[in-house]
Amino acid sequence: MSYAIVSGANRGIGLELVAQLLGRGWRVIAGCRKTQVLRLTELAGAHPGHLHVMPLDVASERSINAFVAEAGIVTDHVDLLVNNAGVLVSGERYGSVAAKSLIESFTVNAAGALLLTQACTALLTQAESARVANVSTMMASLAQTDTFRTPSYAMSKAALNMATRLLAAELTPQGIVVASLHPGWVQTDMGGAGAPLAVDTAATLLLDRILALGTDDAGRFIASEDGAELPW
Ligand SMILES: NC(=O)c1ccc[n+]([C@@H]2O[C@H](COP(=O)([O-])OP(=O)(O)OC[C@H]3O[C@@H](n4cnc5c(N)ncnc54)[C@H](OP(=O)(O)O)[C@@H]3O)[C@@H](O)[C@H]2O)c1
Repeated sequence: MSYAIVSGANRGIGLELVAQLLGRGWRVIAGCRKTQVLRLTELAGAHPGHLHVMPLDVASERSINAFVAEAGIVTDHVDLLVNNAGVLVSGERYGSVAAKSLIESFTVNAAGALLLTQACTALLTQAESARVANVSTMMASLAQTDTFRTPSYAMSKAALNMATRLLAAELTPQGIVVASLHPGWVQTDMGGAGAPLAVDTAATLLLDRILALGTDDAGRFIASEDGAELPW
């Protein structure tokens, strides 16, 4: 049996990943701040015993530890961890960027992914060939940044990419592949209605790319749409 953990699983890309993983026969542990979600209840009903919805706030070490302890009751191994939970503070302008926005973004987007992965290490090492997918963004690319846009988001996702490199260095020898993936611009609360990619299409592309990750992909930054290597 293959087990996946998805953070930020109550809406957007995370929720769609949960639905598609279940559709592909996976057992899923969905981590969310809000666990009472109609679609998750419906999915649990449609896939009896395959979906476990558990409270998870990746900004809290205590919540991360409680979540992983509860996951360890359900399964002794995790084949896939998707660090999907993320925040984007909109409307930031140079001259009024707030420390609170920077700190919250770093806590959730970068530290949260590293700490959740760290806490899951024992479960990941018990899988035959585990993968950790960090959901990043093109906006984290240092090389492609030439406008002052969403600094809290861009800086924290660049830090997430560093977490990918650090985790790959540590976990590749243990047979765990860690990579950063850019899902494209997606129609979610974060991406907005004007985004070109529907959430189900984006989740399919992302999941296909994640499930195809091999040892050669460890520490890479990849576009899920076409598998292209992205510039750090
Ligand atoms: N949409 C795009 O165009 C796009 C592009 C590139 C990358 N991404 C990345 O893709 C991922 C998913 O984005 P999305 O578009 O689906 O965004 P979304 O619709 O805004 O959903 C974000 C998810 O993250 C969760 N979350 C936020 N803070 C959390 C915390 N402290 N603990 C646990 N969960 C938390 C949210 O839960 P709550 O409901 O509790 O807030 C929600 O489930 C993010 O990492 C984002 O940066 C998105």
